[in-house]
Amino acid sequence: MQKIYWDLLKKNHEESKKRRIESLFESDENRFRKFSLKIEDLYFDYSKTNIDPLTLSNLIKFAENSEIMKNVDAMFNGDKINVTENRSVLHTALRNFQTRKFNNLDSINKKLQVRFKSISNFCNHIRSGKKKSCSGDYFTDVVNIGIGGSELGPKLVTSALSEYHDGPKIHFVSNIDSSDINKIIKNLDPRKTLFVLSSKSFTTIETIYNSKTAIEWVCSKLGSDGMKHFVAVCASKEKALDLGVFEENIFEFEEWVGGRFSVWGPIGLPVMLAIGLNQFSEFLDGASQIDYHFKNEEASKNLPITLALIGFWHSTICNYTSRAILPYETKLQYLPTYLQQLDMESNGKSVNLKGESISYQTAPVIWGQIGTNSQHAFFQFLHQSSQIIPCEFLLGANCIDDSYYEKHHLQLIINCLAQSEALMLGIKKEETIERKRNLHHYCHGNRPSTILVYKQLTPRILGKLLALFEHRTFVEGLLWNVNSFDQWGVELGKKLATKLTEHFNKKNQNQNFSNSTLNLLYEIRKLKNNG
Ligand code: F6P
Repeated sequence: MQKIYWDLLKKNHEESKKRRIESLFESDENRFRKFSLKIEDLYFDYSKTNIDPLTLSNLIKFAENSEIMKNVDAMFNGDKINVTENRSVLHTALRNFQTRKFNNLDSINKKLQVRFKSISNFCNHIRSGKKKSCSGDYFTDVVNIGIGGSELGPKLVTSALSEYHDGPKIHFVSNIDSSDINKIIKNLDPRKTLFVLSSKSFTTIETIYNSKTAIEWVCSKLGSDGMKHFVAVCASKEKALDLGVFEENIFEFEEWVGGRFSVWGPIGLPVMLAIGLNQFSEFLDGASQIDYHFKNEEASKNLPITLALIGFWHSTICNYTSRAILPYETKLQYLPTYLQQLDMESNGKSVNLKGESISYQTAPVIWGQIGTNSQHAFFQFLHQSSQIIPCEFLLGANCIDDSYYEKHHLQLIINCLAQSEALMLGIKKEETIERKRNLHHYCHGNRPSTILVYKQLTPRILGKLLALFEHRTFVEGLLWNVNSFDQWGVELGKKLATKLTEHFNKKNQNQNFSNSTLNLLYEIRKLKNNG
């Protein structure tokens, strides 16, 4: 059945090559309304894509025949849909255990309730000063040490909600490059600094190195009592204990929370410390509202499914190789990077759920930058290069800042809409010639874009946006028939790094590395030794 729709969509694509996007507005004056969705305080406009009514109908039928809702129910119910690791996928439980209990797993909801109360108490005691440092000081600074999903979510949310901060100042360290941790701790007072060691596995070399360096830095100044300045967030308590973290300072989460889906639970501790539990609960409830929408709305009005169908159309049917993420909001500066991990680590795969090779294109390259800065970086490429890159604009109707800045915000809105218009219309060749301009000024246009408008960047709306993107990723993975919840591809590089370390330390010289790697290592040694 799927092949029928796949073939129909290929035919739709051939037809789309014969028309320009703006022609679709000429044939239907209501196109804007028909190709947009309003879900409470979110408005999604996908009318500036080359998707006509027949294509949309076939995309929706394709989704309906992909048994998406059956798989959605399976995820919320805790079925082991992460088939290669034989795990459930229950990050949604982290934001629904108090309200809309979608999964009928009472034991899980009870465990989450207990854990949330424990981490909430810890957070409130740090923020109130009831829990002070070993020198009797308030904790004025928090350093999160973690990488990938153990940093990107908390860093994005902390930055996006900077207007709501009323707790300690939050810093993030991730890279094994020592300048990352050094630039942070050199300006901090160990007596007033709390470290959150965030790692699901607690085997990630960057996090282990940085954690040990932080422990040495604190304990060299405060003695062994300095270990009171360390909390661990992980799924592997024993490893945190081995590092010397006190048991009462270890906050666990389950293996069925994927790293890139983990900001809703203990990995979100830096966010809780920054904005407090009331605002963090708003963030969770916004996500929970999208969960409810995703689980209950029919495909044609389902926002995550619609975003996924557009993504599938652009990547797999039109073969566009990348997707530009363009948030016209400085506070969402880390969103493109967050979505790089969410989408490329989830769906950057070429083997299907049965373990067979895939012949079609799956996840696109995800990249982007805030607007309007991106207009002065790569919009030349978007308008005049030979590559068509679908653009996803995000835009807040209201800015958080004082109304004094309204004139700034109006320009932000206008620039976003103008760029979307320019990508669609371009400058027609006739116009270029009329204006006696050469083809250097010609913009082909006919380049697709969508715009997701949200009322204002509040904790609740941010929760909605991130849940929306998580579910889009999940549905795209279903359409591509891949497992969106494992990441076997990251293991090889880690294994080779371990072997190269052994080689470098002369512990094992008969490693079969390429001639270029070994020679380059030799040259690097020479450069190091010669200073
Ligand atoms: O990039 C591989 C990965 O395992 C990610 O999935 C994860 O978010 C990151 O490394 C960090 O892993 P951990 O939280 O176990 O330190």
